[in-house]
Amino acid sequence: MKDKKSWAEPYKIKMVELLKMTTKEEREKALVEAGYNTFLLRSKDVYIDLLTDSGTSAMSDRQWAGMMLGDEAYAGSENFYHLEEVIRKYYGYKYVVPTHQGRGAENIISKIMIKPGDVIPGNMYFTTTRLHQELAGGTFEDIIIDEAHDSQSLHPFKGNIDLKKLEQIIKKYGADKIPYVSMATSVNMAGGQPISMQNLRDLRKLTNKYKIKIIHDMTRVAENAYFIQVREKGYKNIPIKAIVKEICSLTDGATMSAKKDALVNIGGFLALNDKSLYEEASNMVVIYAGLHTYGGLAGRDMEAMAIGITESVDDNHIRARVGQVEYLGNKLVEAGIPIVLPIGGHGIFLDAKKFLPHLKQIQFPAQALAAEIYLDSGVRTMERGIVSAGRNKETGENYFPELELVRLTIPRRVYTQAHMDVIAESVISVYKNRKKIKGLEMTYEPKYLRFFQAKFNKS
Ligand code: F0G
Repeated sequence: MKDKKSWAEPYKIKMVELLKMTTKEEREKALVEAGYNTFLLRSKDVYIDLLTDSGTSAMSDRQWAGMMLGDEAYAGSENFYHLEEVIRKYYGYKYVVPTHQGRGAENIISKIMIKPGDVIPGNMYFTTTRLHQELAGGTFEDIIIDEAHDSQSLHPFKGNIDLKKLEQIIKKYGADKIPYVSMATSVNMAGGQPISMQNLRDLRKLTNKYKIKIIHDMTRVAENAYFIQVREKGYKNIPIKAIVKEICSLTDGATMSAKKDALVNIGGFLALNDKSLYEEASNMVVIYAGLHTYGGLAGRDMEAMAIGITESVDDNHIRARVGQVEYLGNKLVEAGIPIVLPIGGHGIFLDAKKFLPHLKQIQFPAQALAAEIYLDSGVRTMERGIVSAGRNKETGENYFPELELVRLTIPRRVYTQAHMDVIAESVISVYKNRKKIKGLEMTYEPKYLRFFQAKFNKS
């Protein structure tokens, strides 16, 4: 079906979940109670939930059937062996430690590989990833290309690594201070932007020269593979499965939040090729999550994950998935709304600095905009700007990221094209009234990952 232009869903709907409509008064009350933080809203008060694509996918009938085959043995569950087989088949990594979600894997890899004083270069930070690196005593260094910080740059691979920046860091600190390069596919904080295969090959060459490992944040690897297929020379006729496997083959191990690409509501894993690192990891997971053949998951969760991985690398699936995101993005572009370009893989990112130029960054424009969209229509989005960026661990000062974004994250296989139209209508109507939108001040700030629980008031 690749020759057809439409991205129509390669599935039909067998069960539905009813949505609740709310009035503006109800939403206003809910918003005040939530301290203008969309993370603190109750989901019953939300109409269309674009907070995240994490754990929000609709599972297939096959995945649900797989849940019935849960082998709930404490040790050696059949579902673990199925999961391991699928990971070896589609991703090519040798050893697997299941974890309850992505950050469980990040915790383990950071603890076993990072020593105090180490430096971890990466293609833009991710909140939980950087925090685990810091808690292990390391410092994150951003080595993504400059274009990634410019919402209007049309570079086709804004997730690429600037190898000159990496080499400078290696020269400055020495290769022995760099346990690995943290390489994400489909860079979340840049707007779901891909890394190219060529860049990854060049990265492999450079890291081989200095004997530095590459640990792959493969949370959205299939979406990245799709962009390689449609944008990179030589990949047009290569199936997603083969592209995904090639990406993984250029790295030494991976952390995975299976709640995204892999179409499950809970689950993740750490995958490694090095046996002794795997042994350390499988020992450590016992302390924090559970035996190395379940890592905090039920057998049924591992079964659903194994089937979800298989479905996630299907060409028709991924084309419809990204096609739906592009459909919404194009509607907003046509209406003149400032969004991150090119349109990314898992959501649309509104450029809040351009949307609300009358607000200073310290007035939390993206947070204010997310609140306003919820108020307008009950569509829940989230902030990816100064609140998410947090504070510098040494100086305690706020980071002021270039990108001040509101993320409209599209859950996989959940909403219809008509829902996309409703979302676009709401954003357009908020844009028309944008001059009236006021900034916020933070009234409560938790110490870690403040965006999840911070509270605000109108300033
Ligand atoms: N890496 C990336 C790129 C992520 O997007 C996430 C989660 C994680 C790691 C952590 O995985 O949540 O399973 O522990 N991102 C979610 C989001 C929370 O909304 O973007 P987790």
